[in-house]
Amino acid sequence: MQAYVIVLIVFACIFSLWGLLSLLSLLIYLIPQLVVRILNPLDLKKRYGGGWCFITGGNSGIGESFAKKVAKIGLNVVILGQNEERLNKVAADILSINQNIETKTIKADLSGNPEQVTEEIVQQLSGLDICIVYFNAGFGNAAQPTKKSLDQFNTNIVTHQHLFQVLYPRLVNRQLTAKKRGAILFTSSGLGIITTPGSVVYSATKSYLGHLGECLASEAH
Ligand SMILES: NC(=O)c1ccc[n+]([C@@H]2O[C@H](COP(=O)([O-])OP(=O)(O)OC[C@H]3O[C@@H](n4cnc5c(N)ncnc54)[C@H](OP(=O)(O)O)[C@@H]3O)[C@@H](O)[C@H]2O)c1
Repeated sequence: MQAYVIVLIVFACIFSLWGLLSLLSLLIYLIPQLVVRILNPLDLKKRYGGGWCFITGGNSGIGESFAKKVAKIGLNVVILGQNEERLNKVAADILSINQNIETKTIKADLSGNPEQVTEEIVQQLSGLDICIVYFNAGFGNAAQPTKKSLDQFNTNIVTHQHLFQVLYPRLVNRQLTAKKRGAILFTSSGLGIITTPGSVVYSATKSYLGHLGECLASEAH
């Protein structure tokens, strides 16, 4: 066989494989989107019998979007963040989405002394029937072992773990008035699975959160 025919065959194989992999990645992206669109969204209020959703990092980005979604469903919302102006703005936006719910804001810095910060937050949550705990607050960009990387460690996982110690038993001990007692959610990251230069502490913290969620998912049933 001519050498150029062999080269052509090799190229054809590489391109076919490439095409197949691209098609597979497209399907992996499209199928979940399709399933979500076909199925009715979960009625979390019915599922957990109403109550409050507590979201760390609820004044921005992913946490803010989630806060608005659960407010629409009819759950009360507590959002936690550092920026008071954004906390108030998001709380007002949430109320404009659903005036039949209540909102509460907690201004706290999760990078502070974890025990003290947790105590202050838990005090502000006292008396609320929390059905969803969403540990979402976090930040990246602190690769070097500096004060900032310690702040990141405390924010992303340590204070969340302290809060978990208090709030998880509260969820478990909730009176079962609905199908499920409640939910506990974490925002991990793709960087918790793969690593890139400059994301040492961030990747490790996100890996912890992802794994904690996976372990709980199998134990909490
Ligand atoms: N965006 C992405 O592509 C992506 C990908 C994977 C994972 N994530 C994760 O998703 C989560 C939300 O991120 P986002 O993309 O929505 O970014 P974002 O808009 O910057 O949200 C981060 C939230 O965390 C809060 N936060 C940060 N440090 C805090 C501290 N020390 N104490 C209290 N609250 C603090 C922020 O509140 P203040 O602004 O008031 O401090 C803000 O509400 C983070 O955990 C992030 O690591 C994001």
